[in-house]
Amino acid sequence: MTAAMAGKAAITVTPNENGFGAAITGLDLSKPLAPNVLTEVKDAWARHSVVWFPDQPLTHDELEAFTLQIGPFGVDPFIKPMEGRPHILELRREPDEKARNFGAGWHSDWSFQETPPAATILHSKVVPPVGGDTLYADCYRAYDALSDEMKRVLGTLTAIHSAALPYGTDGIFAHEKEKRTMEIVVSKEAEKTFPHPLVRTHPVTGRKALFVSPVYTLGIEGMKREESAAILGYLYTHMTKDEFVYRHKWHENMLTMWDNRCTLHYADGGYDGHLRVMHRTTVAGERPV
Ligand code: SIN
Repeated sequence: MTAAMAGKAAITVTPNENGFGAAITGLDLSKPLAPNVLTEVKDAWARHSVVWFPDQPLTHDELEAFTLQIGPFGVDPFIKPMEGRPHILELRREPDEKARNFGAGWHSDWSFQETPPAATILHSKVVPPVGGDTLYADCYRAYDALSDEMKRVLGTLTAIHSAALPYGTDGIFAHEKEKRTMEIVVSKEAEKTFPHPLVRTHPVTGRKALFVSPVYTLGIEGMKREESAAILGYLYTHMTKDEFVYRHKWHENMLTMWDNRCTLHYADGGYDGHLRVMHRTTVAGERPV
């Protein structure tokens, strides 16, 4: 009788001490997961928000197939996908690149969309010998730590999201002078805005999380610029305090999946002179409420 048939855990989940982030071992992601194993993976992901699977060499087909077991693909704008693979982005930085590494700012992926992605899946192909960590901030615990009155006030607010700052025609990438291997497509489309509740309720866990970021949040609906800036500035400092942040170290062939509905992430640099190659897919999400 297998462990799963006996009602025992089919996988091994090893969480970080504070419960934010967990390693999952005991499975092979190159093959379709049995329904009970997939349920355990999804449960662990819901509990720990960021999960990683070491030693998972995957082909493009296998990465896509694993993604589709979590949910349908999300829509990835403003970055040219891999040739013949419309749902895989290659995050590639060559040893001679001097441009700021992609993702070097706290954000939740594509939060300016009406239905931002639930998950992002990142698979490491080439990991530099130094640097290249990804930082994750736990937006549940950051919310939980606020006073009741602050929670009450924030719970009434709507934040305005947009891709203008990085991808707009007057944005960061539009003005970039340094060579970049990744092909970024700046566009007027990036300047559209979309409102989302500043505090969102996770559709699976029912927990509340702060849902704003310095990369994609332009302001708070109905407030003056300096009023929004004061509140958002406070929140960004609060959300990214050490106590809420997990620093993720990569090894080759590691697959990491994070929940954009309750985390922010930041791609740390520190690997100039070295190649870093990652393959990324997203899983469609729902409209934040
Ligand atoms: C990102 O998706 O923002 C990039 C994360 C990373 O490359 O570490």
